[in-house]
Amino acid sequence: MSETTMEKIVSLCKRRGFIFPSSEIYGGLASTWDYGPLGAELKRNLKESWWKSVVHQREDMEGLDAAILMHPHTWKASGHLEGFTDALVDCKNCKKRFRADHLPGEGSKKKCPECKSVIDLDETPPRLFNLMLKTYLGPVEDESAVTYMRPETAQGIFVNFVNVLNSRHRKLPFGIAQIGKSFRNEITPGNFTFRTREFEQMEIEYFVKPEDAASWYERWVQERFQWYESLGINKEKLRLRPHGSDELAHYAKACTDIEYLFPFGWSELEGIANRGDFDLKQHAQVSGKDLTYFDQAQNRRYLPYVIEPSGGVDRAALAFLVDAYREEEVNEATRVVLGLNKELAPFKVAVLPLLKKKPEIVEIAKKICSGLQKKFVVKYDDTAAIGKLYRRQDEIGTLYCVTVDVQSLEDNKVTVRDRDTMQQERIEINLLEKYLTDKLV
Ligand code: GAP
Repeated sequence: MSETTMEKIVSLCKRRGFIFPSSEIYGGLASTWDYGPLGAELKRNLKESWWKSVVHQREDMEGLDAAILMHPHTWKASGHLEGFTDALVDCKNCKKRFRADHLPGEGSKKKCPECKSVIDLDETPPRLFNLMLKTYLGPVEDESAVTYMRPETAQGIFVNFVNVLNSRHRKLPFGIAQIGKSFRNEITPGNFTFRTREFEQMEIEYFVKPEDAASWYERWVQERFQWYESLGINKEKLRLRPHGSDELAHYAKACTDIEYLFPFGWSELEGIANRGDFDLKQHAQVSGKDLTYFDQAQNRRYLPYVIEPSGGVDRAALAFLVDAYREEEVNEATRVVLGLNKELAPFKVAVLPLLKKKPEIVEIAKKICSGLQKKFVVKYDDTAAIGKLYRRQDEIGTLYCVTVDVQSLEDNKVTVRDRDTMQQERIEINLLEKYLTDKLV
């Protein structure tokens, strides 16, 4: 099998409607992407799978959908105003800017990734650059109106800890999950949708007794790893990377990244951290509110510790796309297949009339399609010859193609083709829904 490159993935995404450059008719906006019809379905499926597994299928979790704009004191308490910075370096030669820790080279002598000239950090020391995107609330653009686009969804969870605890009559341990957009003014975005300035996160804050934090941390590392595996990702391309003590934030007790082997190397999909009581303590201090938990069984009051599994929707989507992509030789031609898991595939079934000139065939095909749409995501397509239609559906990962042909008019059967094996079976139309349900549900 030939190598999967980022060029092939970017090209497939554009060609088949997964991901387009944002504002393309105006020349695009740097490292900003729009999810097309297929990408929107893939992301929905990913988020639904995550929500199901961490909220609906657990007794100890609640969901939340907090606002993107938060009180500016939030960012003072969280440490983002002071410390959410990257070291920025200018190349004197080509005038481009880079993150200091992304520059190749030894010691203080680095190499510009663009023009290849030497960047001497002793001559041009890095400057700290805050990654939060600033905006103004209301009509007057002065200091009092400054607010920020949230750089993580996590803080919306911390500030609602007591609201959820009380409204849902919760006891420890319990967690709050949230999916939503976050914004960071990244100095060097890139690798397609891997690092962007606007992205979506799937975050959990799991509140526990301090003495239980270490064991819950281990459990969440395993559970989150298994979620990626359960959606069919290649295990050899997934790994856990515990952080060394030099990488840990000063308050963090432990952190492990889940990494995927992209064409550009091992890179982070999600981090699981034991954050201690840092966040609740900070918010209690800055807001002046009591954020402690009263433990009735132990008759004591304390700040819970927090385990935080924090992943990116866009990075997960990209990993599953890269992982699913394959090229096969079939009859001396290349077949591109997106072998996405049945939960993630944007369309489950395509209904294709073999002869669109025959109205009876089209009528049956459309009737089958609208019947199946009540249960699955199903698309009708008659815009090309059957060979081309199969190829298109393979490229977008559609699991089954149902073909209606002349014989269907006589025997009330259709051909069902399996994406992966390309095997075809004749199935009675009135048994089709059951046949597909057995395969897909
Ligand atoms: N609350 C913790 C937190 O935000 P993080 O490691 O900065 O931790 C968590 O981000 C996840 O969010 C990352 O593992 C990644 O999947 C995603 N993410 C972070 N920055 C991103 C960016 N610039 N573009 C795309 N995804 C990003």
